[in-house]
Amino acid sequence: MARDNECEHSGDEAALRQPSRRRFLQSAAAAATVGAAPHLRAQTETPAAPAARTPEPAPPRPVALNVNGRTYALQLEPRVTLLDALREYAGLMGTKKGCDRGQCGACTVIANGRRINSCLTLAVMHEGETITTVEGLATHGALSPLQRAFIEHDAFQCGYCTPGQLCSATALLQEFRSGAASVATADVRRGPIKLSDDEIRERMSGNICRCGAYANIVAAIRAAHEGGDQNVSATAIGVERHDPA
Ligand code: FES
Ligand code: FES
Repeated sequence: MARDNECEHSGDEAALRQPSRRRFLQSAAAAATVGAAPHLRAQTETPAAPAARTPEPAPPRPVALNVNGRTYALQLEPRVTLLDALREYAGLMGTKKGCDRGQCGACTVIANGRRINSCLTLAVMHEGETITTVEGLATHGALSPLQRAFIEHDAFQCGYCTPGQLCSATALLQEFRSGAASVATADVRRGPIKLSDDEIRERMSGNICRCGAYANIVAAIRAAHEGGDQNVSATAIGVERHDPA
């Protein structure tokens, strides 16, 4: 028995003398905790950032917008977008709000002849400009040739993107006639020779149609171009001529 006890004791002592893997891991973890403690304390002691202050809204100011040949005298807070000014203040609901962040083209209007996303610009920046919305494309109640072509070619389904498509295509036709080149133009020094389907697709690429009516939209624009869309003159929407160099 005494021998047996001796053997047991001698085994324990050997185990104590030789650092086991478990003991090593325990001591390493303890060391890591001690090392990280100052950082943890520093994190918890970082003073709280001061609460962000919401700026006071600027008071409304008078803004006169020339839309579709009529002057709208509005009272607008300076951060109101042109899109919201048209829809919510001028009551022109034809221009649609899709993404409200410049990605879909539903809010396209024409300002001084240029297509713009009205959700990305402030109304106060457009005082004195000539703005055309979808409501201004018809003349004396008669649809423009482009609008008629959209109907004839079934170029829409739900119609939500259509006001933006029509404004964009109206400016596109004038841009093409004035000689403005696009990425699809083979020789930009000579300008576009022909309004090909590739030219139309490239120039309309900022206008998304969730219904996928693209083929018919291209056909409608081509038909309006070939038929001579004379209803909206370049000067009416303020297009400048781009003479090829
Ligand atoms: S609503 Fe302006 S680009 Fe989509
Ligand atoms: S017709 Fe529906 S989104 Fe274009």
